[in-house]
Amino acid sequence: MRVPALVVNFKVYPEVLGKRGWDLAATCAKAAEDTGASLVIAPPLPDLAHIARLVHLPVFGQHADAAEAGAHTGWLPPEALLEAGAAGTLLNHSERKIPHKDVAALIPRCETLGLEVIACADDLKEAEALARLAPDYIAIEPPELIGGDLSVTTARPEIVSGAVEAIHRIDPDVGVLCGAGVKDRKDVRAALELGTVGVLLASGVVKAKDPEKALRDLAKGLR
Ligand code: G3P
Repeated sequence: MRVPALVVNFKVYPEVLGKRGWDLAATCAKAAEDTGASLVIAPPLPDLAHIARLVHLPVFGQHADAAEAGAHTGWLPPEALLEAGAAGTLLNHSERKIPHKDVAALIPRCETLGLEVIACADDLKEAEALARLAPDYIAIEPPELIGGDLSVTTARPEIVSGAVEAIHRIDPDVGVLCGAGVKDRKDVRAALELGTVGVLLASGVVKAKDPEKALRDLAKGLR
């Protein structure tokens, strides 16, 4: 993905299930084209393949499992994401934690497949542990601020700058994102000023009255 970036995690909000998710993906693509902003989307997994064909944006999985392709019912090996057209995946999101050993196994596997990884950390300790695994990106997201109205960049700026510092001390090549409560251009600008290469957000777009307007405003923060 091109940075700085807005990474929009659709989660599985009712607003993005089925056709509504396809429409939001098209809105994201239009906003990216009109503003020149780098947008990445992580739609609900059942719609990923369709959306990846529908829009010219990097489409990421919301999750992957360390299970191998084979007789593993209901699991999601990264190879399946690749076949579906994904350019990368979130791993270890606070709402979809996986064991550290699975993250450790998945990062090199995704790298071999050419899938970019955004590994999510709830706190500094987890961010440091993930940095040792050299993912492409780490997103720092305090769980208590997720889905709320107060941006992490306002409520906990020190955790964002602290994560940038701690991660880069271990591996300067890891790009740092932050998320939780990010809603507008001011939050995006603050995130970049704190040393990140972008934001990971959901409700600020998915739950917005006018998602296109929200995206255009967020994009201004990248400039
Ligand atoms: O993955 C993004 C996320 O957890 C943050 O959610 O709704 O606070 O932007 P939100």
